[in-house]
Amino acid sequence: MSGEARTPVAVLGLGLMGSAIARAFLAAGHPTVVWNRTGAKADALVELDATRAASAAAAIENAPLAVVSLLDDDAVGAALREAGPRLRGRVLVNLTSSTPEQSRRRAEWAGRHGAEYVDGAVMAVPQGLGTPDALLLYSGSESGYRTAEPVLRALTEQGTYLGADHGRAAAFDAALVSVFWLSLFGVSLGIALAEAEGVKGSELVRFTPAVVGLLPDMAAHTAAQVEAGHYPGHDTSISSAYTAFATLREVVARHGIDTGVLDATGEVFRRALAAGHGADGLARLVPTLAGSR
Ligand SMILES: NC(=O)c1ccc[n+]([C@@H]2O[C@H](COP(=O)([O-])OP(=O)(O)OC[C@H]3O[C@@H](n4cnc5c(N)ncnc54)[C@H](OP(=O)(O)O)[C@@H]3O)[C@@H](O)[C@H]2O)c1
Repeated sequence: MSGEARTPVAVLGLGLMGSAIARAFLAAGHPTVVWNRTGAKADALVELDATRAASAAAAIENAPLAVVSLLDDDAVGAALREAGPRLRGRVLVNLTSSTPEQSRRRAEWAGRHGAEYVDGAVMAVPQGLGTPDALLLYSGSESGYRTAEPVLRALTEQGTYLGADHGRAAAFDAALVSVFWLSLFGVSLGIALAEAEGVKGSELVRFTPAVVGLLPDMAAHTAAQVEAGHYPGHDTSISSAYTAFATLREVVARHGIDTGVLDATGEVFRRALAAGHGADGLARLVPTLAGSR
């Protein structure tokens, strides 16, 4: 193991994600000092050789690198309030889900205290950390990221630095979470509909990979058309897709299943149609969603 790989690291926040982060650092051999508001959550990590800190400030004092995983930006503010003066010369990597604006404000705050600030987004579940599938995105101080990178590699080899704007990782996070959650909502609605039709969810999901597998190509195609500002409906037009969509809504409504998500989507389709985009491809819904006619 290299000298770099044994860099001490402080982990602030030992919820589901923070505990998994601390375990990954310990497994990679990093001396790990841990702190959590509810101290008992450190017990299992102390058994794995983590050092318990009595406060966030004490944890930061004991390591050149601090990794934060708390519920939200308010929790980060509450946890770090007393710790600011200890941050000088340290690298602070904040993996708490935040808005881009919160990340930029947090970077200013950390900068005032003399820390190099890196904001990060965890696009993985806690059990995924340390596996090749985990994706972590970072932005902010590049020198801070380069310093922290050998340690952060314990979380994933798939760490990607996105640039100096501290809000950029959070922007990617919000957009990717939108893709994930709305897709997952589609799964929930699909299973509700299948069950109402007497089809078991387990029978249905045999076929979901074929449908979900279409998404990466469609996403790339959509992004390319948005960037070109040109929306030829070669494969599907908005008007034909809306007809299929209306059929889906009818089936859902007939079973008394909540149509709220579909109704919001239908409204976007209707705005695009009313603006004369019926012959365009589905990518034209992007500017419609963003408010253009
Ligand atoms: N879990 C996931 O699958 C997942 C995936 C991607 C990203 N994330 C992000 O990772 C972050 C942590 O998520 P999690 O799943 O670990 O959440 P969690 O299990 O609910 O843990 C929340 C953590 O925040 C602490 N906390 C909350 N309010 C606080 C306050 N006012 N002051 C100090 N500490 C406070 C909690 O301390 P106590 O123990 O004292 O309550 C706990 O350590 C979130 O931003 C989440 O969006 C999670």
